[in-house]
Amino acid sequence: MSIEENRQYWNSLTAYNEALSKMGFSAREPELTKFFSTRLNPNQRILDLGVGVGVVYKLLKNFISPTKYLGADISETMLKHCKENTNDEILLVLLTSSCLPFLENYFDVIICYSVFTHLDSPTGDSLLGEIQRVLKIGGKAYISIIEKEASGGDYKTFFIHKTGEFQKSLETRGFKIMSQTKISGEPQTLIEVEK
Ligand SMILES: C[S@@+](CC[C@H](N)C(=O)[O-])C[C@H]1O[C@@H](n2cnc3c(N)ncnc32)[C@H](O)[C@@H]1O
Repeated sequence: MSIEENRQYWNSLTAYNEALSKMGFSAREPELTKFFSTRLNPNQRILDLGVGVGVVYKLLKNFISPTKYLGADISETMLKHCKENTNDEILLVLLTSSCLPFLENYFDVIICYSVFTHLDSPTGDSLLGEIQRVLKIGGKAYISIIEKEASGGDYKTFFIHKTGEFQKSLETRGFKIMSQTKISGEPQTLIEVEK
């Protein structure tokens, strides 16, 4: 989907529970908490790009600094749910275009979980360029993609990447791939890259 289609889709999920169920998070929570607990610390300036209702923040809040954590999203509705869910603990930014309203080399870490899984190729490519721009040199980005549909899932709104294709785009943009982790219970692969 394009940015505009995404905005309409995520804005249409007006109830918190409906939005949360579309993200299907519960199975992966312990695994993601463990993954990030060894990689994040309170000194890092973190961008949660496509913050949704704030589930990732809730998993990380014990080992990062809330004042250095910023959530951004294109959907007003998701940000409204996120604000309620996180009790105003973090700064939230509404994105109005494919350009990120941040300085270059600004963030130590960018997390983009289950977002590229909803972007068509041109939209994803332009967002990747923006991630490259606003991430510090030596900074890390964590981006999840789906390369293969799990049988029986509802993947109508998902973008399935061809195997290895997204990794090539990352390398073309100058990112170094540090690790690739299959998240159990769902078909996502979490790719860790360094700028
Ligand atoms: C499946 S939800 C994931 C939310 C959150 N990352 C999580 O894992 O709990 C996808 C989110 O990405 C947002 N989104 C979609 N396209 C985006 C874009 N181009 N830039 C920023 N956020 C986007 C949607 O509005 C939605 O909140």
